[in-house]
Amino acid sequence: MSKPRTPARAVVLVSGSGTNLQALIDASADESYGLQIVAVGADRDGIEGLARADRAGIPTFVKQVKHFADRDAWDTSLRRAVEGFEPDLVVLAGFMKLVSPAFLERFLTVNTHPALSPSFPGMHGPADALAYGVKVTGATLFVVDAGVDTGAIIDQVVVRVEPDDDVETLHERIKVAERAMLVDNVGRIAREGISVTGRDVRFGA
Ligand code: GRF
Repeated sequence: MSKPRTPARAVVLVSGSGTNLQALIDASADESYGLQIVAVGADRDGIEGLARADRAGIPTFVKQVKHFADRDAWDTSLRRAVEGFEPDLVVLAGFMKLVSPAFLERFLTVNTHPALSPSFPGMHGPADALAYGVKVTGATLFVVDAGVDTGAIIDQVVVRVEPDDDVETLHERIKVAERAMLVDNVGRIAREGISVTGRDVRFGA
């Protein structure tokens, strides 16, 4: 991506509690962070992520798959809604849907996954790591591609698995580290731009 506007415009997509979104909202309050969240989109209604956006005065939209004839129609509608906000960057922050290649061609899209890729892709990263018995896990920020959590890695953070962890305590500890990593890296993308060549990711236009 060439050096974005100042501030860079981001659309954030969420499906749940939106603590990652909140971390970005809080960081964006400082002008020097270089990011404006221009809209928050969701694939379901009534979630705390949308309420957080409302409280911050950020426009929201909801696109539920069940309201469309098929997945393609849903994706097209999502893409158009995002397009309307002219973002430099789309951040998937706990968004539990895959977006299409057409969406990814149109927008630089990053996602955060609560495991150390390439281990434990998919919906159950913390549970899968715990079941495997790994001693460290963490979170991965990546540029979304057509696969599931397979995109070029922007950054990773390591979190220790404690002997008494259950899925919830482990995921909560991961999320603390994940939010800090997300805020650091999205800020750098906003201020410096990012270039992606195959699996090589560098800050700077
Ligand atoms: C994060 O751990 C994210 O990586 C995963 O779901 C969690 C979302 O948390 N996909 P929140 O909605 O940002 O609180």
